[in-house]
Amino acid sequence: MDSNSRLFAQNGDPAFPKIVLPDIPDLSRIEVYEANGGYSALKKALGMAPEAVTDEVKKSGLRGRGGAAFPTGLKWTFMPKGTEKPKYLAINADESEPGSFKDRQILEYNPHQLVEGILIASYAMGITSAYIYIRGEYYKWMMILQGAIDEAFSRGYIGDNIAGSNYSVNVYVHRGAGAYICGEESGLMESIEGKRGYPRVKPPFPAQNGLWGNPTTINNVETITNVPAIIWNGAEWFSKIGASKHPGTLLFGVSGHVKNPGVFELPSGTLLTEIIYNYAGGVIGDKKIKMVIPGGSSMPPIRGDQLDGVKMDADSLRTVGSAIGTGGVIVMDEDTDLTSVLLRVAKFYWHESCGQCTPCREGTGWIRKILQRICDGGGKTEDLDLLNRIANNIEGNTICALGDAAAWPIKFTIQRFRNELEEEILSKARAKSAA
Ligand SMILES: Cc1cc2nc3c(=O)[nH]c(=O)nc-3n(C[C@H](O)[C@H](O)[C@H](O)COP(=O)(O)O)c2cc1C
Repeated sequence: MDSNSRLFAQNGDPAFPKIVLPDIPDLSRIEVYEANGGYSALKKALGMAPEAVTDEVKKSGLRGRGGAAFPTGLKWTFMPKGTEKPKYLAINADESEPGSFKDRQILEYNPHQLVEGILIASYAMGITSAYIYIRGEYYKWMMILQGAIDEAFSRGYIGDNIAGSNYSVNVYVHRGAGAYICGEESGLMESIEGKRGYPRVKPPFPAQNGLWGNPTTINNVETITNVPAIIWNGAEWFSKIGASKHPGTLLFGVSGHVKNPGVFELPSGTLLTEIIYNYAGGVIGDKKIKMVIPGGSSMPPIRGDQLDGVKMDADSLRTVGSAIGTGGVIVMDEDTDLTSVLLRVAKFYWHESCGQCTPCREGTGWIRKILQRICDGGGKTEDLDLLNRIANNIEGNTICALGDAAAWPIKFTIQRFRNELEEEILSKARAKSAA
C-alpha cells in the first residue's frame, strides 16, 4: 500500500478516522478497493505467523461490535491449536435487533474490507471455511456481498493458495429466514447446520463445540471489518483511538425523533449528546428528549434529563446503568407515549422468542398481554409491579440472552420512568371510562 492510500483510516482528519466506512466512492468494487490499498493487509498478515496476527488483534484492544463487547483477540485464542478437526469462522450479519442497522452499511459500501478481515481472521486461527450468516431480508446486501466474494475469488484472494501463499480458505454466504434468535451465536450455528434456530446450552462453548461439533469462532461484521486496519497500522495505532478500554471507532446508527437519522462512524467514547445534536441534527421540532435507548432495543434506557456527559463506550455506559449493545441509538421526544413503546418492544420479543425456555416463552406473552391491556385503558398502576416481577423471572433464567433482552426494556423503563408510566396508565384508564 502506498503512502497515499486512503483506506484503513489513512484519510481525512486523524482525530476522526473512518476505519470501517471510509469516504471513498465505489469502494465496493474490487478495482477501487485495491487501488486504495485493499488486500495489502491480507498480504502483510500472510507474511506473519498466525499467532502474531492474533496477538496484534489482542494488543489492539478490539472488542466485539455485536452486542457484548467481548475482547476479539482473546476470543480467537480460545480456538484449539494442533487439532485434526476442521475449524470454522461464522460471521454474524443477522442484524435483527430493532434500532440496529449499521452492519448493512458495511455490506453495502465496504464489503471487501469485511472479506479481507475474514481472510485474515481465518488465517490467524487456522480456519479453512468461513460462513457469513446474513439475515434473509437483506437480499440486496447479500447480492453485493456475494459479488464481492466472487471478485475476491477471481483475483485469487479466496480459494487455494490465496495471494500466492500456501494457505487455502473458502468463504460462503448463508441466508437466514428472518428470525432474530438466529443472531444469537448458537442459534446461528444451528441454523447454518440446517436445523431450527434453537440456542444451545453453554458450556460447551463454540470454540470447543461449534459448527457440526467442531471448533468455531463467531464474530460480528463490524468487528471483523476493523481487522485489516489493525494489521496494517498496528495494534498501538488502534488502541489510541477513542476510549482506552474500548478503543477504535464505533458505528452509531441513530433513529427515532431526530432530524438526520443515519449511521455515523465516530471514535468510541463520543458524547451521546454530540451524536444526537451534532451528527443526527437534534430532535425534530426542537423538542426535549424523554428517553434514549443507546444500543438497540434491548438495552436499558437513559432519561432525557440525564444525558449530559454520557459517553458512548462499553465502560462509560455501564457506569450509567446501560450498555453499548450494537450502538443503535433510539431517540424519543418528550411527547412519546412510553407504554405504547413498551408494547411495541414487547410484541417483538414475544414474537421472536424461540419458545424453548418456559420463562421467556410464557413471560414475553404475559408482558405483551398486560401492556396491551394498559394501552387499551384497562391498566392499574400495580400492573407495573407485576410486569417487573415477570421481567425479573425471565432475566437470567433462560438458555440464551434473548430472555434478558426481553426483560431489560421493561424492568429498566419501569425503574427509570415510574411516574411517567403511572400517569399514562391512569390517563388511558380515564380516557376509556370517559368514552
Ligand atoms: C437474541 C440475540 C440476537 C443477537 N443478534 C446478533 C446479531 O444480529 N448480530 C451480532 O453480531 N450479534 C448478535 N448477537 C450476539 C451474538 O450472540 C454474538 O455475541 C456476537 O455475534 C459475537 O460477535 P462479536 O464478539 O464480534 O461481537 C445476538 C445475541 C442474542 C442473544
